[in-house]
Amino acid sequence: MSEAPDAAALLEEAARYWRTSITEIRPGHIGLRGYPIEELIGRAGFAEVLWLLLRGELPDPRRARLLEAALVASVDHGPQAPAIAIARSAVSCGLPLNGAMASAINALGDVHGGAGQQALELFLRIEALRATGQGLDEAVTGAIGVAAREGEEHLPGYGHRFHPVDPRSGRLLALVEEARAAGLVSGRLAEVARACEAALERRKGRHIPLNIDGATAVVYGELGFAPPLARGLFCLARGVGILAHAWEQSGTGERNKGPMPRAIPYRYEGPGERHLPEP
Ligand SMILES: CC(C)(COP(=O)(O)OP(=O)(O)OC[C@H]1O[C@@H](n2cnc3c(N)ncnc32)[C@H](O)[C@@H]1OP(=O)(O)O)[C@@H](O)C(=O)NCCC(=O)NCCS
Repeated sequence: MSEAPDAAALLEEAARYWRTSITEIRPGHIGLRGYPIEELIGRAGFAEVLWLLLRGELPDPRRARLLEAALVASVDHGPQAPAIAIARSAVSCGLPLNGAMASAINALGDVHGGAGQQALELFLRIEALRATGQGLDEAVTGAIGVAAREGEEHLPGYGHRFHPVDPRSGRLLALVEEARAAGLVSGRLAEVARACEAALERRKGRHIPLNIDGATAVVYGELGFAPPLARGLFCLARGVGILAHAWEQSGTGERNKGPMPRAIPYRYEGPGERHLPEP
């Protein structure tokens, strides 16, 4: 006959089932990484609390400001940005705001909004080559060559459908430079990103700009965030624009809004009209 489970051991097992170092909840108490939430409310900014939750400690306010600058830079790119268009379409199809936001955020993949993760991986790979003693240009050329040989013709974090020069990138790199001068970041990933841009220009024979995913990847990497978080942070920031557009769309009363005005046809390229044989 098996023995009845020890109640204390069962309780201990249940308590260990969800383990976290992020938030402590007790009746009447919410602690974020040890800080009672009522102390944070009204004193810590959103970017600081974001940092606290992801990294475990409150940041130097100047570092939080740089993080916030990257978040601000990413908030929106108008209704023709695929994720924003998806959010607006979803609302017109009857989805509530949360459903529209989830649909849109699901579209932030490797090519749109999510490329910051691969960009930061690339920058860190190049930085690791530099740490072995390779020169910057040699490390950049080597890494781009490897990517091309692996069939990755598009360098993550570069290129834009609309902007020959992305106005957000220059500003963010200038802020990284200020932070470097103040001793807050090393500036090495910014150097790598600039060198990649120059190498890409030499390779393609024209300027292909550092885009928002690439520029924010520099900021997040300089601040010590891991590559997958470059994507996660972008999703959080773009969620702001997604929400604003979904909300605006919900006030229009439009229903079932597709990707183009109905009067503009798409091109059908399949077989001409044909018919089933007579039964
Ligand atoms: C964002 C993106 C889809 C924009 O596309 P686009 O400007 O319409 O570019 P296309 O894919 O049509 O390419 C046009 C030309 O520029 C080149 N190009 C564009 N972005 C490039 C990149 N990141 N790396 C290398 N070459 C690139 C293409 O190879 C192509 O060259 P070709 O004329 O010799 O064939 C594209 O630049 C890309 O995939 N970038 C990498 C992913 C990324 O960073 N996404 C985040 C966007 S904010």
